[in-house]
Parts: sequence; C-alpha cells; structure tokens
Amino acid sequence: MSPRRDVVRDNGAAFEPRIKADPGFIDAYDSQLDTALRPGDLNEFIGQDEMKSQLRVVLGAALNRQETPDHLLFAGPPGLGKTSLAFIVAREMGVGTRVTSGPALGRVGDLAAVLADLKEGDILFIDEIHRLPKPVEELLYVGMEDFRLDVVIGKGPGARTLRLEIPRFTLVGATTRAGMVSAPLRDRFGYQYRLNYYRDEDLVQILVRSASLLKIDLTADAAREVASRSRGTPRLANRLLRRVRDFAEVNGKGTVNIQVAREALSLFGVDELGLDVVDLEILRVLCVQYPGRPVGLSSLSVSVHEDAGTLEEVYEPFLIQRGMLVRTPRGRVATERAYHHLGLEVSGTLPL
Ligand SMILES: Nc1ncnc2c1ncn2[C@@H]1O[C@H](COP(=O)(O)OP(=O)(O)OP(=O)(O)O)[C@@H](O)[C@H]1O
Ligand SMILES: [Mg+2]
Repeated sequence: MSPRRDVVRDNGAAFEPRIKADPGFIDAYDSQLDTALRPGDLNEFIGQDEMKSQLRVVLGAALNRQETPDHLLFAGPPGLGKTSLAFIVAREMGVGTRVTSGPALGRVGDLAAVLADLKEGDILFIDEIHRLPKPVEELLYVGMEDFRLDVVIGKGPGARTLRLEIPRFTLVGATTRAGMVSAPLRDRFGYQYRLNYYRDEDLVQILVRSASLLKIDLTADAAREVASRSRGTPRLANRLLRRVRDFAEVNGKGTVNIQVAREALSLFGVDELGLDVVDLEILRVLCVQYPGRPVGLSSLSVSVHEDAGTLEEVYEPFLIQRGMLVRTPRGRVATERAYHHLGLEVSGTLPL
C-alpha cells in the first residue's frame, strides 16, 4: 500500500491517510519501504566485506563452471540483510527465486510441491529454516544432496516410494537462530556465514543511500547520529530515518540536520545507544533485581518474558558487543557501563 500522493500539504509533503491502529498494517507499510530500499546487487550491499569477498568467489566460480552454486546458509539477528542476500544471489546468478519459509512448509507435501515446481538453476529461499518440522527436513536432505524427491504413496505393507528427479537448484537458507538448525541440515550447506552487527560507518553509508532514494536532505552529522542509535542494524537505521523525515516534514524543516535528528529521535524515545525495550529490560533485571549477581539464562528469560534462545542469539550478542553484559560460567552479569547507562550506582564487584 503506497501513501496517497493526491493530497499534498502546503509545504509540499505528501499526505498519508490516517491508519487505524493496526500494527500489522503499519508493519506491512514499513516493510514495503524496506523492499524499496533493498540493495539490488552485491555492490549495493554495504558492509560485511569479508562475507561479500567470499560470496563473490563462491558465485564467480559457479558461474565460470556453469554450475549451480553450493547451498548457502545465512545466520544472524533480524534486519541485517539475510533476505536481501537471497535476492542478490539470484540476481548475480541471473536465475529465478522461489521464496518460502520454515513455518509455511508444515507438511512433507508442502515441500514436495515447492521442489517439484523448481526450474534448473533456481534459487530456493527458505526463511526461518530452523522452523522446519523433522519429516520435512528429512525430505529436504535428499533434495539438497541428490536432487531427488522420494514420495511415499500409500500406507502400511502396500506403501511404495516414488522417486522423482528434480532440477539442480541452490537452497539459500536464512535463520535468526543458528543454534536451532540441526547439524545434519547445517552440514549440507556448502557455504555458511553468520552476519554480525554493522559498524556505524557502514550504517552511515546505508543511510546516505536510503536518504537519496527517498529524496531526504540529510546532513552528514545527522546521518552519524541516526547510525549510532540504530543498534548496528540496517533495517532499524532505515526505520529511524523515516521517523526523522516525518518529524522534519511535520515541523516544516526541509533539511534533516543534527538538531532535527536529535529532537525527532528523542520524541520517538530512541535510546542514545539504540537499546530497545527488551535490551533495557534485560539490563534493568540484571542491575536492579539481581545487582552484582550472575543470573542464569532461564531466570533471565522468565524475568523479561522473552524466550531463552532469542535472548541468547538476538539480544545478548548486541549487549555484549556494546560492553554492557558479560557471560560468565555462573550466569549473566551487567557491566559498569550498563549501570551508568541506566543512571544507577554500581553495586557489588563487577566485571570491567
Ligand atoms: N548491507 C546492506 N546494505 C544496504 N541496506 C541493507 C543492507 N542490509 C540490510 N539492508 C536494509 O535492511 C532491510 C532489511 O534487510 P533484510 O530484510 O534483508 O534483513 P533480514 O536479515 O532478512 O531480516 P529478518 O531476519 O527480520 O528477516 C533491507 O530491506 C534493506 O533496506
Ligand atoms: Mg528476512
């Protein structure tokens, strides 16, 4: 759904119709803009230089040999570019893409239908691949390895296996929970990469590109300000940029400079370090509820109402990277930085 362009305000800003408070709708609207800002090829994909060099070799070699590349697995927290990479691989190879996800492939028949429909060389993108049910995963093993589909017809002693050849394809898997991908599935990917949070310099470049696509006049220091509060995450950087633009438009400011950026970000309650509600809750539990004491993952999970695996793979890596949390053999401990960030007195002996 695109914003209506037919009603334009005095200051030239497009009027966006009122949206009933339906978070799903707003997400869909935001994610459509995500698609508009998605890098189209490897050159437009900013940052993650090590991964890009490796991927260029993997794809280049396959192109030279006129073969389909090995299956590729991208892991890492949400919003770092896994889905974008799947489309980029298809673009670089000049092939078609079939997109699906772990939860959508609930039954063996769902996957069989997808595999049977592939064309030679296609990319099959399975998002949230750690959520495939076991029987579906087993069917996928054979497909990935032997490009074959074994379908069982009938039940009991009369059951027969029908074997179908399927075209050679490249599976691109994405997961936010690398630890939940079973070892046999992981081993069948010829190339695997775990994306890490972006450096602020990279986020600045991403913001400059997005600002030019969205025709936003963004100063360099405003871009740095937004980048530093974006949690190392391109999707969040783009989202904050749109909120900053909204703020500038509403207040009749043409250029987004550092003052405008700061005022907008503080209006939307964006933490100076980009910490979100769950990050802050984790720190609050560690610093206020269990000051100076190590907290086990399961207690932390109960206290912040968040699944333990998600805490471990999505939230903690960011807090660790920012020097706010450490994992000790006895549990998680907040560092001095975390206490200072929450404006609290440090209690007990803490890791530096
Ligand atoms: N390296 C990059 N360069 C430029 N823009 C990027 C990059 N990575 C991500 N983005 C931007 O962030 C948005 C989100 O990326 P993407 O959807 O690929 O993330 P994801 O890892 O698949 O997230 P999720 O786990 O939530 O599915 C993209 O639409 C794009 O606008
Ligand atoms: Mg994705």
